Amino acid sequence: NRVVLAYSGGLDTSVILKWLKETYNCEVVTFTADLGQGEELEPARAKAELMGVKPEHIFIDDLREEFVKDYVFPMMRANALYEGLYLLGTSIARPLIAKRQIEIAKLVGADAVSHGATGKGNDQVRFELGYYALQPDIKVIAPWREWDLTSRTKLIEYAEKHQIPVPKDKRGESPFSTDANLLHTSSEGKVLEDPWEEVPNYVYSRTNDPETAPDTPEYITIDFERGDGVALNGEAVSPATLLAKLNDLGKTHGIGRLDLVENRFVGMKSRGMYETPGGTIYHAAHRGIEQITLDRGAAHLKDELAIRYAELVYNGFWFSPEREMLQAAIDHSQEKVAGTVRLKLYKGSVSVVGRKSPNTLYSEKVVTFEDDAGAYDQRDAAGFIKLNALRLRLLGRRDGR
Ligand code: ARG
Ligand code: SIN
Repeated sequence: NRVVLAYSGGLDTSVILKWLKETYNCEVVTFTADLGQGEELEPARAKAELMGVKPEHIFIDDLREEFVKDYVFPMMRANALYEGLYLLGTSIARPLIAKRQIEIAKLVGADAVSHGATGKGNDQVRFELGYYALQPDIKVIAPWREWDLTSRTKLIEYAEKHQIPVPKDKRGESPFSTDANLLHTSSEGKVLEDPWEEVPNYVYSRTNDPETAPDTPEYITIDFERGDGVALNGEAVSPATLLAKLNDLGKTHGIGRLDLVENRFVGMKSRGMYETPGGTIYHAAHRGIEQITLDRGAAHLKDELAIRYAELVYNGFWFSPEREMLQAAIDHSQEKVAGTVRLKLYKGSVSVVGRKSPNTLYSEKVVTFEDDAGAYDQRDAAGFIKLNALRLRLLGRRDGR
């Protein structure tokens, strides 16, 4: 009778910790993941200990490299964007948390897992599809769907009754809900709930306002190999380091802000604000290197697959055969995606301004407006157009448009 809880150390998951013990009379094992959310994690250990969790039942894992290498990068190879805009920063972190939680459950012999996502959102779905895929018989406890702590006031009352420390700034309603990791910070709810109201400045936490960003552009290069970023400005870096450095650059230049009304998997629309500084630069760079290294047929098919792929990640189907099938096709397409992209960062924008590759398909000789010395025979185009026009001419004769 043991449950592994995805524990942030914050007020909500601390209340859940206590509530699990009380309601299920079970032993709670806590798991806190470092995904680069930029918070100290040792306070989570102290807090768990304070709440009676055995030291050997407190797991704090640095998953930053695994997160970027095995989740963010594969997704970036696909150029996945949900509903054309969202870089899936929260969505892509959930399967990794679920995977590690199940590993810990096996390690400590727990028969249940628990999380702090509400019954209205996507995150519950993503966590639980991950759990069930990896441990079909696992028992899942989602307190927000069960308990009657339906308001902030009740939650704080419960905390105080059980001597759970309530940080001063948590006493009032928090002005919005956030989720952060190396890829992004998302903000939803409360002051953001009216989609007509512009996002207030204080909601932004990891990008400078583009309007006050530096007046001089900054140029950088990213090197790619097999579709993955491997170096920044010529210096080899690990996946997590690359993303962290791009986050710093993106922050300075105010890159990667997004205000979006999106369709949640459960059916409702929700308005969120995302800051994905490094991810936005990386996404642009990856598309830049694909421009010269991917064949048109491969590139266009990829663009179609990217929509399906993004939907699978958003809806929580990371551990599904269809996502793995798409991944295999996408990874295959990346074999020759290598070279260097030069980017210009300036006041909220990222532009690809140069690309080169040993595998380039771009032929200046063929495309040039100058004399191509026989590299391309313009007369070939006449037959090409004529055959393509055949259908249109037959239709035109019949329908007389
Ligand atoms: N709407 C985004 C998504 O579904 C962000 C969710 C944020 N999650 C959170 N617990 N605040 O991916
Ligand atoms: C939540 O409901 O816990 C956050 C929002 C979401 O999962 O979509």
